[in-house]
Amino acid sequence: MNKPNIVIFGAGLIGQRHVEQAIAQAKLIAIVDPSDAARVLAEKHGVAYFADPEDCLASVTPDGVIVATPNHLHTEHALMCIARGIPVLIEKPIADTLENADLIASRAKAADVPVLVGHHRRHNPIVACAKAQIDSGALGDIVAVNGQFWLYKPDDYFQAAWRKGPGAGPAMINFIHDVDLLRYFCGNIADVQAMRSNIQRGQDVEDTAAIMLRFESGALGTFSMSDSIAAPWSWEMTSGENPIYPHRPGPCYTIGGTHASLSVPDLRLWAHDGPRSWWTDINATQLSVEHADSLVRQFAHFLAVINGTPPLVSAQEGRDSLAAVLDVLTAVLPGTKG
Ligand SMILES: NC(=O)c1ccc[n+]([C@@H]2O[C@H](COP(=O)([O-])OP(=O)(O)OC[C@H]3O[C@@H](n4cnc5c(N)ncnc54)[C@H](O)[C@@H]3O)[C@@H](O)[C@H]2O)c1
Repeated sequence: MNKPNIVIFGAGLIGQRHVEQAIAQAKLIAIVDPSDAARVLAEKHGVAYFADPEDCLASVTPDGVIVATPNHLHTEHALMCIARGIPVLIEKPIADTLENADLIASRAKAADVPVLVGHHRRHNPIVACAKAQIDSGALGDIVAVNGQFWLYKPDDYFQAAWRKGPGAGPAMINFIHDVDLLRYFCGNIADVQAMRSNIQRGQDVEDTAAIMLRFESGALGTFSMSDSIAAPWSWEMTSGENPIYPHRPGPCYTIGGTHASLSVPDLRLWAHDGPRSWWTDINATQLSVEHADSLVRQFAHFLAVINGTPPLVSAQEGRDSLAAVLDVLTAVLPGTKG
């Protein structure tokens, strides 16, 4: 069977990971990015180079496109693929505004073009294992979930000016991944309330937030987030998903049910040895999974989506995760206009 022809829009930090996968798992036919570095990359791999997505789609017909351009360009780039009937993987966040996310979702639905949103963590076998436990009823009814994103971003991370501005903080960059998983585990979110702080870094963007979630099921969630705490309790460090972060196994989410509770990503399922009671001993069963690279699995899934498999993270799902983040961003930032 012929390998699908893939085009990558945006060959920056994450786009280069997609380039690797397109070469390994499919046929990369073009890289589209106005930067000199992207032109050099295309030459290195012997594939067509375009500075502009429209010019590219006017001359080649890919089976799938990956949009890994800056957030504000996702809508324009996704819509030009959808208009041509080309399945598209859009990096997270699906769009920069809810209106644009809705536009992508509605155009994709009307044209019957599959859209996969790049919430790659969902492709991690750890996540699949946790989801299977929850769906099996092992936890009973989910009552509450607690999550943490605590780590320290070094000062040089903020040398790029855009990282100090509105929308570039841990809510949009990091929590969007966490909330996507919490939605996957606990269902759709009905209500979000948050407090934000920029007291540590004093920038025009949050460094810390306390977030409360109400799920449609009635379950409640709490999430504590900061990029200014020297600590290991984040998905980044506890999961071992990405080797650029130190791996410190432990929990970053605890999911509480009426019959058992699960910590993730360390996958310990806690249940009483006898009747459910605070006087009865409670112990953990260690669940295990075969570890695998989420980005590799996401790409393989995209190829399946091109061939008709429903996307694991649809445009609507990407839109709903974005909506939760935008709700957090409405919380007043002390010292700025909320
Ligand atoms: N899934 C993840 O974990 C993850 C990680 C990092 C970034 N992202 C997302 O991926 C996207 C890109 O982020 P990044 O960190 O790779 O950014 P980046 O700045 O490293 O790369 C973006 C690239 O897009 C190119 N570009 C700009 N305008 C373009 C245009 N009109 N057409 C084609 N290319 C254009 C830039 O030259 C640059 O090379 C963002 O939406 C980001 O949120 C996702």
